[in-house]
Amino acid sequence: MDNPNDIENIKKYLSEKLETVSSVDDISKIRNEFLGKKGFIGKMLSDMRNISSDQRKDYGAKLNLLKIEVENMIDEYSGKFENDKDSIYTELYKSLPGRKPEIGHINIITQAISEITKVFAPLGFNRVRYPEIDREYYVFEALNMPETHPARDEWETFFVDSPNDEKLGRLVITPHTSSGQVREMLKGELPIRMLNISRCGRRQIDVSHVPSFYQFEGLVIDENISTTHLIGVLDYFAKNFFGADRETRLRPYHFRFTEPSFEVDINCGICHGKGCKLCKGGWLELGGAGMVHPNVLKAGGVDTEKYSGFAFGWGVERTYMMKSGTKIDDIRNLFSNDLRFLEQF
Ligand code: DAH
Repeated sequence: MDNPNDIENIKKYLSEKLETVSSVDDISKIRNEFLGKKGFIGKMLSDMRNISSDQRKDYGAKLNLLKIEVENMIDEYSGKFENDKDSIYTELYKSLPGRKPEIGHINIITQAISEITKVFAPLGFNRVRYPEIDREYYVFEALNMPETHPARDEWETFFVDSPNDEKLGRLVITPHTSSGQVREMLKGELPIRMLNISRCGRRQIDVSHVPSFYQFEGLVIDENISTTHLIGVLDYFAKNFFGADRETRLRPYHFRFTEPSFEVDINCGICHGKGCKLCKGGWLELGGAGMVHPNVLKAGGVDTEKYSGFAFGWGVERTYMMKSGTKIDDIRNLFSNDLRFLEQF
């Protein structure tokens, strides 16, 4: 059918046209062709003036009815077409790559702990953990710091409000992992190669201190152990943890539980000992170490005539921050739980 020009044929023509529709654009073209101002129905309405007045009323009513039917037909069809369009999008949506659920990863401190453990393992160091809340005896007394000794002040201890134990004293949040030394000796198994990594607490907070942090403590007790062994182990750790180009040095210091005592420094990873903005004098301080004091060995029931030993104890976070590449300039970030920070590691 070419052109409909009467009421009877127009619906037939419209159905044929609608069969050919393949896009929303086709629908709007058809709507315009039939219902637009210059469309078929519009034209038929304006032609009404040529019809005799007695027929006009009847014809007009029929035209109006036709107009409604045409509108309905087009609407119905375009509705169907819209559904098709929706399903095209649904298909498209189904084929989009899925969103990956976010997968967490091991926290940087746990990573540091396992790295440190791995470095010491080949030397036979056995990883242990001792109470994070312990009796004053293991924390101070057994480490050659009697009750009134001023050296205790250094540890800025949190005491726990709890009943006192007559022999072992008050409960404290362990301010250092050295409290594990005598506990390890009291197991009665010699020789000892202990690596105690635990959470500690001290009343301090600034860029390089937090009230809750981790320490790792090495303790070796055997026959004929000397400072040379300590130096060897420290150097081994420096090279394997920080890099082959790193070295350690010992500075004389004083701890109650070691004699002699040292502070251990590592040469700066940036200037390699020449001196720069970060390290000032070319060296960075790692932590304490020394030869275990005979009084500590005695507290642990170790025969001081036969055995000797060395120990060292450093902060996990501090040590990890000194590793080149980590670029952490404030220890508090490690505990901020800010994903933007944590996701970097
Ligand atoms: N416990 C000491 C501290 O927290 C560090 C330390 C020094 C540990 C010397 C040792 C050591 O084992 O021998 O400051």
